[in-house]
Amino acid sequence: MSKISASMMCSELIDLKETIAVFEDKKIDYLHIDVMDGEFVPNFGLGVDYIRGLRKLTDIPLDLHLMIRDPEYKLQWIGIKETDIVSIHYESTFQVQRVLDWLKPFGCKRFLAINPATPIYVLEEVLDYIDGINLLMVNPGFAGQKIVPSTLKKAERVKKFLETNNMDNIEIEVDGNITPENGAKLKKIGAGIFVAGTSSIFHGSVDEYAKNIDSFREAIK
Ligand code: DX5
Ligand code: ZN
Repeated sequence: MSKISASMMCSELIDLKETIAVFEDKKIDYLHIDVMDGEFVPNFGLGVDYIRGLRKLTDIPLDLHLMIRDPEYKLQWIGIKETDIVSIHYESTFQVQRVLDWLKPFGCKRFLAINPATPIYVLEEVLDYIDGINLLMVNPGFAGQKIVPSTLKKAERVKKFLETNNMDNIEIEVDGNITPENGAKLKKIGAGIFVAGTSSIFHGSVDEYAKNIDSFREAIK
């Protein structure tokens, strides 16, 4: 079953409570939290206080996408729960396996995120350390961008690579410009978690989110 991870950087702060109520009603699987430090990506974003506030509003698990330099030294700040996903970027540290090791005690799902230009062979040495791969379909940092076209073929190659290594249990998440159309293509390829931002569910006002979720779900089913 396809899972939806709603990208909270696309939500309106003023509608936050209502938005969460719709997401709970529609059984959204994860809230995607883009944590940005202004160094690893050219933007600042959702930080520790925001995460703490969100936990008070809902029990929906978080899908924490850490776009921060040297995440290994910052994991303790976040308040990671067992039910969460945490993605760290291959490009954000020189000691990828150490970060993944240090994530283990939190009991969360450990994902490795890779940027569009990062070749898939970097996954080779970490397959035993991860539960999933977060495939960036855009260069991270901003919502509302266009897909980097080569990433569609890349997703296919990742799926094949996992199959060849008998690691088909590793989940594939796709992040960035996941329109219903791109989502449908990626579902066929084998993606399982779809980050839903301005390209799918965050259209119009909060009253429209429920129907947007229904049509997105239909596209990726
Ligand atoms: C990147 C972000 C964005 C965004 C997704 O890390 O996750 O890609 O929130 O939404 P859209 O659909 O605007 O690309
Ligand atoms: Zn993201």
